[in-house]
Amino acid sequence: MSALNIIILAAGKGTRMYSNKPKVLHALAGKPMVQHVLDCALALEASNICVVYGHGGEIVPQAMAQYQAQFVIQEPQLGTGHAVQQAMPHLPDNTLSMVLYGDVPLIQQTTLQQMRAAGEGLVFLTVNLANPTGYGRIVRDASGKVLSIIEEKDATPEQRKIQEVNTGILLAPTAMLRSWLSNLKNNNSQGEYYLTDIVAMAVAQGVAVHTAQPAHAWEVEGINSKSQLATLERTWQSVEAQRLMSQGVTLADPARIDVRGQLSCGRDVEIDVGCIFEGKVELADNVRVGAYSVIRNATIAQGTQIAAYSHIDSSLVGANCHIGPYARLRPGSQLHDDAHVGNFVEIKNSEIGKGSKANHLSYIGDSTVGSRVNIGAGTITCNYDGANKFRTIIEDDAFIGSDTQLVAPVRVGKGATIGAGSTITKDAPDGELTLSRSKQITINGWKRPVKIKK
Ligand code: UD1
Ligand code: MG
Repeated sequence: MSALNIIILAAGKGTRMYSNKPKVLHALAGKPMVQHVLDCALALEASNICVVYGHGGEIVPQAMAQYQAQFVIQEPQLGTGHAVQQAMPHLPDNTLSMVLYGDVPLIQQTTLQQMRAAGEGLVFLTVNLANPTGYGRIVRDASGKVLSIIEEKDATPEQRKIQEVNTGILLAPTAMLRSWLSNLKNNNSQGEYYLTDIVAMAVAQGVAVHTAQPAHAWEVEGINSKSQLATLERTWQSVEAQRLMSQGVTLADPARIDVRGQLSCGRDVEIDVGCIFEGKVELADNVRVGAYSVIRNATIAQGTQIAAYSHIDSSLVGANCHIGPYARLRPGSQLHDDAHVGNFVEIKNSEIGKGSKANHLSYIGDSTVGSRVNIGAGTITCNYDGANKFRTIIEDDAFIGSDTQLVAPVRVGKGATIGAGSTITKDAPDGELTLSRSKQITINGWKRPVKIKK
């Protein structure tokens, strides 16, 4: 099969977004629209990806700098044919070229592969719409052979009744595309160079014109406004929800989940309403996620229960842990199996050993906590002196009394006990009780002040 170039048109202004940001950088499912298209192009193993940009200047190439793509500016924007022309000097002959759109984010690899299998010559992706208003119409002869694409503004009333429309996505041999584009004229109602005019040229030259249809209509929906963006977002989320349920995941409400990345789930996973998953998240067998939890770039091992309103970011959670409600695991947290992290507990860049518990109102930062440790309510690691951060080490079987401050760097030994209310600034030895607390006194006969009469 010939090498494939992919040209992504992303020069449009997006007037109806009412935004300073170029349209193709607005996010769908947590990712800029043009990035969805770039990822699809990568999945197709295109040998060459060319992004045509314009409005918003260098913002688009800067935002997509991580991609091995060529960025070609189109200035001014004189139509879709003119946009594709800008890419042509970068594309070798003896290849195929495919045109995609930065504002048609959900095009799927399987549909594009079907286009490649549709036949030699020019291949267009078309779709039948109950309401074709605004789109270019596919004009066919009595035998069904494609003759041309006619834009709505140039169409006769009879042609406007055609329900098969052009999605804009096409595939053509690069050399042919190059020659057709060089012959485009802008003598139409919009004074633009229409990419669609190449169809009539191909027909006149006797080049075969094929059409393919997307597997789902949402794949070819373009975005022009925030309202369309929100609608397509919900469509995509419902596709994700259906995918999860088809794999056996229990969703309390498939309309109330947001997957902004890749969520993979084991068997018998349950997800309550309002949860957001960002980046790469893996939930192993029997994990339960409580309502309104936000989980980003995390791996949760089997049987772990995450109660409502928990936030987990860039963390690893072992099996059979209990988290939340209202727990926060910040980047670099690692919980070993059977750990408990309860309400209003914040963990950052710390390891919590097997079976250890911090159940209430704590901050554990830059710490290494061993196994079977009990961290009492209100315990704080003072890891930061205003300039540098230091580590706290708590060894196996230690018991930290409530409301303790551990001033790092500090070590609490194996099996050590810390008395409640202590401020620990020096290492506490193994197996002993350490506390720092002023002695309790009672002042006999002390009287509360009384209000002075005026
Ligand atoms: C185009 C098609 C129409 C099709 C419709 C599908 C043409 C002439 N018409 O019409 O047949 O039904 O898309 O949505 O191709 N763009 C540039 N540079 C330009 C002009 C456009 O990069 O100079 C980009 C836009 O940002 C947009 C895409 O090309 O992403 C389509 O342009 P748009 O003006 O929306 O074309 P339509 O009139 O909708
Ligand atoms: Mg359009």
